[in-house]
Amino acid sequence: MLYSICYVSTLSNTLEDNELKELFDFCSSKNISKGITGVLLHNSGNFLQYFEGDEVRIKELYYSKIKKDTRHKNIITLFEKTIDVQYFTGYEAGFTSIIGENQTRSLRSYLNLLNYLDSAEMEALSKTVNSFLSAG
Ligand SMILES: Cc1cc2nc3c(=O)[nH]c(=O)nc-3n(C[C@H](O)[C@H](O)[C@H](O)COP(=O)(O)O)c2cc1C
Repeated sequence: MLYSICYVSTLSNTLEDNELKELFDFCSSKNISKGITGVLLHNSGNFLQYFEGDEVRIKELYYSKIKKDTRHKNIITLFEKTIDVQYFTGYEAGFTSIIGENQTRSLRSYLNLLNYLDSAEMEALSKTVNSFLSAG
């Protein structure tokens, strides 16, 4: 069974750019090795992450690791649900390290595209990400 989780959270203490990059790189390579895809965004001290993959792995990652990680707090789950397909499969794994405006723009277009696929999850995700990106 495939599963997806989307949450927002707040950075606990200021992280230097290189520390953020390290976190992104770590997550990116860990996730790739586990077949987990999605996006991790950081904007003005807030995170938004959407990730999807094998249900057991996704739940384990969220409840045993991410939620217990003291580098962030105020973790709010936006949605978690089973999905039929991995929407980010085959898509650039580098999306976990979005920082620049160009990447932001391509993520927006990608999510707009997914929006047309008539999926309630993707519509919710697209709207959430768009407002998150606009907030900074
Ligand atoms: C905002 C945020 C997002 C994270 N996302 C992931 C992730 O997608 N994948 C991952 O493996 N670890 C992620 N982590 C790191 C985990 O919380 C944890 O540090 C890591 O999984 C520890 O792995 P280990 O116990 O195997 O060393 C994230 C941490 C933070 C603060």
